[in-house]
Amino acid sequence: MDRNSRKRSLKVALCLAAAFVLLAPVTFKSQSPEAAPPPIILGTAWYPEQWPTSRWDADLILMQDAGVRMVRVGEFAWSRMEPSEGQYDLDWLDEAITMAGKRGIFTVVGTPTAAPPAWLTQKYPETLRMEQNGRRAEHGNRQQFNFANPKYRELARKIAEQMAKRFGHNPYVIGWQIDNEYAEESYDPDTKAQFQEWLKARYGTLDNLNARWTTAYWSETYSDWSQVPIQTGYGNPGLLLSWKRFVSDTWRSYQKNQLEVIRANADPKQFVTTNTMGWFDGFDHYTVVQDLDMAAWDDYVGEGHLDPARNGAAHDLTRGFLRKNFWVMETQPGSVNWSPNNNSLDKGEVRAMAWHDVGHGADAVSYWQWRSALNGQEEYHGTLVGADGTPVPLYSEAQQIGREFAKAGPALAGTTIKSEVAILHSYDSRWAIQWQKHNQKYDPVAELVSYYRPLRAISQSLDVISPAAPLDQYKLVVAPGLNVLSGDAATHLMEYVRQGGHLVLGQRSAMKDNDNGLQTERQPGPLADLLGGRVDQYYALTDPVPVNGRWGLHKGSLWAELLSTKAADVEVLARYGKSNGWLDGQPAAISRKVGKGRITYIGAWLDEAGMAAAAKWMTEVSGVKPALGPVPEGVEVNPRYGEHGVVYILVNLSKTVQTITLPKALQDVLAGGTKQSITLPVYGVAVLSASH
Ligand code: GAL
Repeated sequence: MDRNSRKRSLKVALCLAAAFVLLAPVTFKSQSPEAAPPPIILGTAWYPEQWPTSRWDADLILMQDAGVRMVRVGEFAWSRMEPSEGQYDLDWLDEAITMAGKRGIFTVVGTPTAAPPAWLTQKYPETLRMEQNGRRAEHGNRQQFNFANPKYRELARKIAEQMAKRFGHNPYVIGWQIDNEYAEESYDPDTKAQFQEWLKARYGTLDNLNARWTTAYWSETYSDWSQVPIQTGYGNPGLLLSWKRFVSDTWRSYQKNQLEVIRANADPKQFVTTNTMGWFDGFDHYTVVQDLDMAAWDDYVGEGHLDPARNGAAHDLTRGFLRKNFWVMETQPGSVNWSPNNNSLDKGEVRAMAWHDVGHGADAVSYWQWRSALNGQEEYHGTLVGADGTPVPLYSEAQQIGREFAKAGPALAGTTIKSEVAILHSYDSRWAIQWQKHNQKYDPVAELVSYYRPLRAISQSLDVISPAAPLDQYKLVVAPGLNVLSGDAATHLMEYVRQGGHLVLGQRSAMKDNDNGLQTERQPGPLADLLGGRVDQYYALTDPVPVNGRWGLHKGSLWAELLSTKAADVEVLARYGKSNGWLDGQPAAISRKVGKGRITYIGAWLDEAGMAAAAKWMTEVSGVKPALGPVPEGVEVNPRYGEHGVVYILVNLSKTVQTITLPKALQDVLAGGTKQSITLPVYGVAVLSASH
C-alpha cells in the first residue's frame, strides 16, 4: 500500500470508528479530577503521538466503554517531546492526559529514554551503546542508548525533569514508569573504565581481587586495574559475576538519575516504577527495584498458553522484589508478534490470565497495546482495536474484565498476599549455573519451577524472595539452586533453621562463595555442619536414574549429587538405584531435625511425580496447610488477605469443567449470593470472599 492509499484507508477507518463510537453504549461517566483510581485497574498502553488529536477521544470512549481506567503513555515519544535539543513540547501530552482524565482514565507517564531521538545520537554518538564486537548501535530501533554514558544521562535527566515539572502535580497522573525494560549493556571503552573503577571500589587492592578470583590460574593475574577486561560468556567466574553486579549497579544509577528529578518535582502520591521482564536476568532486580515505590512487569506468554506455575512464579518473583503488590504493566491482548509462532490465547484465556495476575498480587493489568501503529516494527502484535480503529473480537473479553475488576475492586481493596512457604531466588546463583551449566539442559528457572509447581498447588500461596529477605513468617523455605552462597546469607539461613524453620536445599546448593569461587568445604559449604551431611560428588546425567525412598520410586534426571551423612541423627530420605556405579545405593536426599527446625538437602532433580511427593512431605513435616482446602487439579487458588477477611480467586486452568466443594460458605463477589460449592467452566473464574 502506498502512502496515499494508506491515508485513504485511515480516513475510512476513522469514519467506521466514529460510527462505532456513536453506537457504542457509554457505561462510565466522566470523572472529576479528585476521583481516586480504583483498587484493581484495567489499563492499556496508548500512543497518542501516533494519531491525530481529532482521533483521541474516539479511542478514549472505546477504552471507557471497556472499563479501562489507566493508560500508560509517552515511553517512546522522545522525538515528539523534544523535537530538537532543549525545545520541549509537552502540550500535546498534557492534552491527551486531560482528555483521558475526563473519561475517567488515569495516566501513568513513561519517561521516553528507551528511544532517543535521531538528532540526539547523531549529535552525541557516544550516547549510542557499543556491542561486544566494537560496533555502535544505530538509530532505527530502540534501546540503542549507552546506559553508562554521562551525556546520555544528562539529556535523559533533563527530559524527565521537564516531564515531572509539567505533570508532577497533575491529578490525572497516578504514577511514573522510568524508561522501558532495561536490557542492553554497553561495552565501550568508557564503560569499561567505569567497570574498572567499580572493581577498585569493591576490591580495594589488586592483591585482593587477584586472590578472590584465583587469577594465578592461566596467568590471569592483574598488575594494573586497566588490564581487567569485560567478559560475559566464558571467562573467570569472579570476573563474570563482577561484570553482572556492575551492570546491576549501573542500571540502578541510570534509574536514580531520573528518579531524583521525578521525586523532586512530583507529588509523593504519584508512584514511580519501571517495567521489568519476569525471568529476564540481565541485571539483579533486587538491586535495581529497591529504589522504586512499586514493582511492575511485562507478562507475555509468547507462544503457547498460560502455564500457571511458570507464570505464577514470575508474578511471585516480581512481588518479591519489594515484597508487596505489583502491577502487570504490559500483557498480551491475545497474541504477540515476536514468537516463532504467534498463536492467540484461547477465548476466555485472557480473562482467566487477568484474574490469575490479580490472584498473585497484581493491582493492575494493562494490555499492550491499545491499537497498532500503522507502521513500525510491531504491526502484527495483538491489540484491543484494529488498525481501522474499531474493536477486535477480544475487546468484548476486555469489557468483561473491566466490569469484573470494577465489581470486585471494593472486596479486593487493600488486600495482599501472605504465604507460609517461600522459595529463594538469586540472580548470582542463576548466572553462576548458566555460565557453567555442566549439563547443557540444566535450566535454573526450570529447576525453581519444578519445586514451585507442586508446592504452590499444595500451599495455594507462595512467595519467591531473595535469600536476604526476612524469613520469620515462613514455615518452609526452599532454596532450589542456591549455588552462590555469601557468608551473610549462610548465617541468615542457619538462623532461620535454629529459630524453628524448615530449610530445604535443592540440587547444586552452596557450591560457590560470594566471588563465584568454589567453597573450601564441600556442598552445602557453610551449611554442611548444620546439615550433618554433605555432597561427596556431583554427576551430570545423560540418562535418568532411579531414586527410591520415603517419596516412592521415581526418576532423577540431568543432575545427581551423591550425599553422605556425618551425624547419627541425619535421616536418609531417598537413595539412588542402579546407575553409574558411584551413585548406586547412595543417599540422594537427607534431612536433619535441629531443635524445632529442620534442614533437608535434595541432590536429585526429581520427575514431576517425585517432586509432588517430596513437596507433600516437605509441607506436612513443616505444618504448611492449604490456604483454602483441597481443589481439583488444575484449579488455581489465589488468596488475598485484608483487614476484613480473605478473598479467594479461583481460576480453572484445567481442560475440563470443575466443581469445587468449598470448606465453608463463601460470598460470590462476581455472581452474587453465598456458595457452598462452585462449578467453573474451562477458563472459568470465581472471586469468593470470607469476612472474619
Ligand atoms: C514489550 C515492550 C513493548 C512492546 C511489547 C510487545 O517488551 O515493552 O513496548 O514491544 O514488548 O510484546
